[in-house]
Amino acid sequence: MNNCKAIEITKNIYWVGAVDWSMRNFHGYETSRGTTYNAYLIIDEKVTLIDTVKIDFKDELIERISSVIEPSKIDIIVSSHVEPDHSGALKEIAALAPNAEILTTNPNGLKGLKARYGNLNYKAVKAGDSVSIGARTLQFVPTPMLHWPDSMVTYCPEEKILFSNDAFGEHFATSMRFDDENDLNTVLFEAKKYYANILMPFGKQAQTALSALGNLEIKLIATGHGVIWRSYIEKIISAYKYWSSEDIEDYAVVVFDSMWHSTEVMAKTIVEAFAKRGIPAAYHDIKVNPMSDIVTDIFKSKYLAVGSPTINNQMMPNVAKFLYYLKGLRPLNHKGFAFGSYGWGGQSIAQVEEEMKAAGIEIILDQVKIQNVPTKSQLDEITEKILKLEL
Ligand code: FEO
Repeated sequence: MNNCKAIEITKNIYWVGAVDWSMRNFHGYETSRGTTYNAYLIIDEKVTLIDTVKIDFKDELIERISSVIEPSKIDIIVSSHVEPDHSGALKEIAALAPNAEILTTNPNGLKGLKARYGNLNYKAVKAGDSVSIGARTLQFVPTPMLHWPDSMVTYCPEEKILFSNDAFGEHFATSMRFDDENDLNTVLFEAKKYYANILMPFGKQAQTALSALGNLEIKLIATGHGVIWRSYIEKIISAYKYWSSEDIEDYAVVVFDSMWHSTEVMAKTIVEAFAKRGIPAAYHDIKVNPMSDIVTDIFKSKYLAVGSPTINNQMMPNVAKFLYYLKGLRPLNHKGFAFGSYGWGGQSIAQVEEEMKAAGIEIILDQVKIQNVPTKSQLDEITEKILKLEL
């Protein structure tokens, strides 16, 4: 017993989700502020539950629902997304409400839910379908690849609420449910981090979804993670328009690992050289900065320099891991170069450059390599090269 209660977000619509204060890693995405799994209960002629929660939090979900209504009275469960942070407690809720219809997309939602939870009372919905639940209507808008093939959002025109699931969300644990009850800069940073680490490869799909939602009048965006947007709806929508565009800014990011400070000194020189050109540069020692924060900085920065010394004929493992992660996110329109110091072989710098190319980064400067400890004149040379770069 957790003594969890539902929170009414507007008349007869309740947040019944869970706050995961301790979650720190979501498939490699370091979630330093935890997360929430948002589920919503609509009390109408047909009692409707939008999504469930991660299975570890099923008791909290059931308690919150029970604080409003007997779970057996649920008539409809909308499964916006098969990923188990939202569908995890589906089977348990279906057991408590055996007559409830589970609405999902066809074929991907149906396939995914059946594979995970067996044969339940599923019903497929498609773009343009709507269902009347009494005084309210629910309209379904599939948003494929945001970020799974089955993803969809649900719009309630009478309430002007968009139940947006992963879109517009953040991994941000908070006791306060609404955007304006939290620090806006923190929320927007976490929303950008979420977009960069999860949605970056799907800009085109995000733009398609934004067009599909373009004409809707929206009073609340009830997300699947983090805050519910009510005061800053335009801000988060325009942020999504920008994040999903190919626009990029005149910023640089320098990411490196170092063994005995030589690559580190090169990194500092590169940061200062960009700054000298009037281009702000972020400095990320990969040993101490989370990969997900680094990727958030890279996301809209035009320039990227990645450095690694050579160890056992290879780049440093931390740098390899970072480049592997970055490649999966398919960054767009970045330019950069590889750098590093080395003792004898020096293979790491070419390897870094290869991986940067594989991640789609245009190489604009030959590998910057220094054997042993950089001298002042070698560092000055790096500065000169960056100052002369045609950008
Ligand atoms: Fe929050 Fe893709 O699940």
